Amino acid sequence: MPQVTVATLAAMKGRGEPIACLTCYDASFATLLERAGVEVLLVGDSLGMVLQGHKTTLPVTLDQMVYHCACVARRRERALLIADMPFLTYASRSQALATAGRLMQEGGAHMVKLEGGAAMVDTVAALAAQGVPVCGHLGLLPQSVHKLGGYRLQGREAVSARTIREDAKALQAAGAGLLILECIPSALAGEIAQALTIPVIGIGAGAACDGQVLVLYDMLGLTAGHPPSFSTDFLRGRGDGVAGAIAAYVQAVKARAFPGAEQTPA
Ligand code: KIV
Repeated sequence: MPQVTVATLAAMKGRGEPIACLTCYDASFATLLERAGVEVLLVGDSLGMVLQGHKTTLPVTLDQMVYHCACVARRRERALLIADMPFLTYASRSQALATAGRLMQEGGAHMVKLEGGAAMVDTVAALAAQGVPVCGHLGLLPQSVHKLGGYRLQGREAVSARTIREDAKALQAAGAGLLILECIPSALAGEIAQALTIPVIGIGAGAACDGQVLVLYDMLGLTAGHPPSFSTDFLRGRGDGVAGAIAAYVQAVKARAFPGAEQTPA
């Protein structure tokens, strides 16, 4: 079975073929997601909110991330497996290397994700130099929610847009192989996706990215309270269950039908 690698995703970007990514926290969903054609499984620290019931991702520990990553890895057959490095587990280069080591050796991750721009450039370079594939994450940074003052659109003003643009280029230059842009204006995300050679995956960042990711529990309508405005409940009103909902998401991403205008920040 051909494996999805970082090179596969780069080739998809080259062909203009949208990449479908979803968060995944356990073995059963790993199988369902792969069968639906999801190319990237992200063991996101969003599990702290949707599985553990916390208000933020900050309480998630490295042991918990390793556990969930290993659960997914046991059933993963083809998709690229990315794991989030949790809050304050990559505050120095040596800590980042140790964290990535656990996620890859014990958790079976193929790539690690970290949040932040310029401040993360040396860490990304150190990881890349040791053969660790790195996914950057810019825009709304959930691990910095208390600094940002809430979960809200980033990069609306010219200055913050320029910072995100420059951070994206700096992460790529440092060796990142993939970038997630969360909750930024669609035009800015599209511009960054065009400017970078590495694939750019959007969440709440419009349709002009090279792929899309959603939190699995949001797109299945399982998240209590108000789901983010950029998400859609793909299960609602369907007669073919969870597998049908996930297949509908993949199809919508591939057809560039999701996100539509309703889920796209201005
Ligand atoms: O933790 C997570 O699920 C994420 C996505 C929101 C991209 O980082």
